[in-house]
Amino acid sequence: MKFDDIIKERRSVRRFSSKKPKWEDIIEAIDAANKAPLAGNIYALRFILVDDKEKIKEMAEASQQKFIEQANYVFAVCTDKTSLVKSYDERGEIYARQQAGAAIENFLLKIVELGLSSCWVGAFVDDEVKRILEIPNDNENLQVEALLPVGYEMPGHKLKPKDANLDNILWFNKWKNKYMKEPNKPEAF
Ligand SMILES: Cc1cc2nc3c(=O)[nH]c(=O)nc-3n(C[C@H](O)[C@H](O)[C@H](O)COP(=O)(O)O)c2cc1C
Repeated sequence: MKFDDIIKERRSVRRFSSKKPKWEDIIEAIDAANKAPLAGNIYALRFILVDDKEKIKEMAEASQQKFIEQANYVFAVCTDKTSLVKSYDERGEIYARQQAGAAIENFLLKIVELGLSSCWVGAFVDDEVKRILEIPNDNENLQVEALLPVGYEMPGHKLKPKDANLDNILWFNKWKNKYMKEPNKPEAF
């Protein structure tokens, strides 16, 4: 698949068929997540791949998002920001989050290339998800950043690529300047 098509095809899918994705495919996508850029080359990512149906059901409850139950796999992207905070203080916290975001997007794009679907789930009760995944709750440096349920999109429910334009969000050289060059300004000799 061409890169542009992967970008266009990626949508947040919330209806999965019961067909189980191949285990090797999920590992390939995790490998892509693992190649994300890292501030200071300091590694904060930690991953948990869940295929235990009972745990997936519990995570759906902890998120109040029933669709998660349909997935055969949920990939939990976590961070341990200990080393980042040691090196960068508060900025380390930001870097941990950004690192997770980069890894999540790599994963979501690779999933599309593999013919699979997912949805970035960020709304859940942290303590509940930590309990389900047996992540120590007394270490505030450990964070579950996102849950990514994975499956095949339900046939007949294919989401269309979105229309997204840059009109109101891209500016040039300064905040809110819509023009690449000042309008009507003669070229300098
Ligand atoms: C940080 C973050 C958290 C999100 N949390 C959820 C979530 O909890 N549940 C959900 O269904 N979608 C969640 N989404 C997906 C967004 O709803 C989705 O990306 C957005 O509606 C745009 O649709 P698209 O992904 O199909 O382009 C989240 C996305 C991001 C970036």
